[in-house]
Amino acid sequence: MNQQQNIAPMEPLLRVQALSKQFAVSVGRFGGTRPLHALDNVSFLINAGECLGLVGESGCGKSTLGRTILQLLSPTSGAVFFQGQDLSAGDKKTIRTLRRDVQVVFQDPFSSLNPRMRVRDIIAEPLTNQKLPRREIDERVQQVIQDVGLRADYLGRYPHAFSGGQRQRIGIARALVQRPKLLICDEAVSALDVSVQAQILNLLQEIRQEYELTILFISHNLSVVRHIADRVAVMYLGQVVEIGSNEQIFSDPQHPYTRSLISAVLEPTRNSKSKRIMLGGEIPSPLDPPPGCYFSTRCPIAIERCRTEQPAFNETEDQGGVRCHTPGEFKVDMKTSTSE
Ligand SMILES: Nc1ncnc2c1ncn2[C@@H]1O[C@H](COP(=O)(O)OP(=O)(O)O)[C@@H](O)[C@H]1O
Ligand code: SF4
Ligand SMILES: [Mg+2]
Repeated sequence: MNQQQNIAPMEPLLRVQALSKQFAVSVGRFGGTRPLHALDNVSFLINAGECLGLVGESGCGKSTLGRTILQLLSPTSGAVFFQGQDLSAGDKKTIRTLRRDVQVVFQDPFSSLNPRMRVRDIIAEPLTNQKLPRREIDERVQQVIQDVGLRADYLGRYPHAFSGGQRQRIGIARALVQRPKLLICDEAVSALDVSVQAQILNLLQEIRQEYELTILFISHNLSVVRHIADRVAVMYLGQVVEIGSNEQIFSDPQHPYTRSLISAVLEPTRNSKSKRIMLGGEIPSPLDPPPGCYFSTRCPIAIERCRTEQPAFNETEDQGGVRCHTPGEFKVDMKTSTSE
């Protein structure tokens, strides 16, 4: 499997361009609706073979982004390019290919599956739908169950017989059996115990090499993202506020929101001056985002300009960027930061 096939050398596997998604939400008793800004002008790319971590608090738009990439939701504006092809302009064949090339693993992939189906049939189902020869299906299922670290005799059992970690392995097997190019993991380890989380993250690292996968790893948990992502994108209220390499994001975050998230996961050592930054205020509603910078209502270093003028996302040369008027300014000795 060579992901570079049919791709121009410099073309990323996935390019998300100025993507916005609004939901019309009912308000009041008279049938009126208001737009809920779930995604607001989101742009980033994922190169073939890399793992991009997408992190942000619950409700910031991560799953909406995943579903829009998968074309399960249509964008309000903007575009998604997969292997250089604009998916919104794609015909039925393009979308069929996309359904095979891009697979998703959810928090509990079994919740939507038939509990009366044996694991063999659950994994084989996408191939059966593609009408592949019986023998090829059997071979692929045998291979993939082994690749996700499960015994072949599990294939004859039903979903209820498995633990959370095993079920997630089966969910991954069902995705892998289609030999995807891009795997979207949406909170794929969030429901698991910490030790099982580590096992599944290790499995993802292994299969990533073996299957030459590109991964979009979505999680609200920054420590989990840190373990697996090559680059990290941070979302706040429907916008990407920072993108950088794993190392840069964790050692030298430029956006005050990224810095506050990181301060919450870093364990302070005895000699370090780092202290957890507690953000004040509630996350604003995506029905009514604040004027100016969306983070201004909680930002410890907001200035007057921040409340009137929305910062642009300024890209860096290394495919990163930050959305802030004063990036890197929040280099406080965290002792003196806004903490409660
Ligand atoms: N189908 C929908 N209709 C209306 N609002 C939605 C719908 N799906 C998501 N939302 C809203 O969009 C925002 C982003 O949701 P979501 O993408 O699920 O966030 P996350 O995955 O980061 O927790 C939330 O405010 C959520 O309530
Ligand atoms: S633009 Fe202003 S309010 Fe927004 S993150 Fe930067 S400093 Fe904070
Ligand atoms: Mg979600």
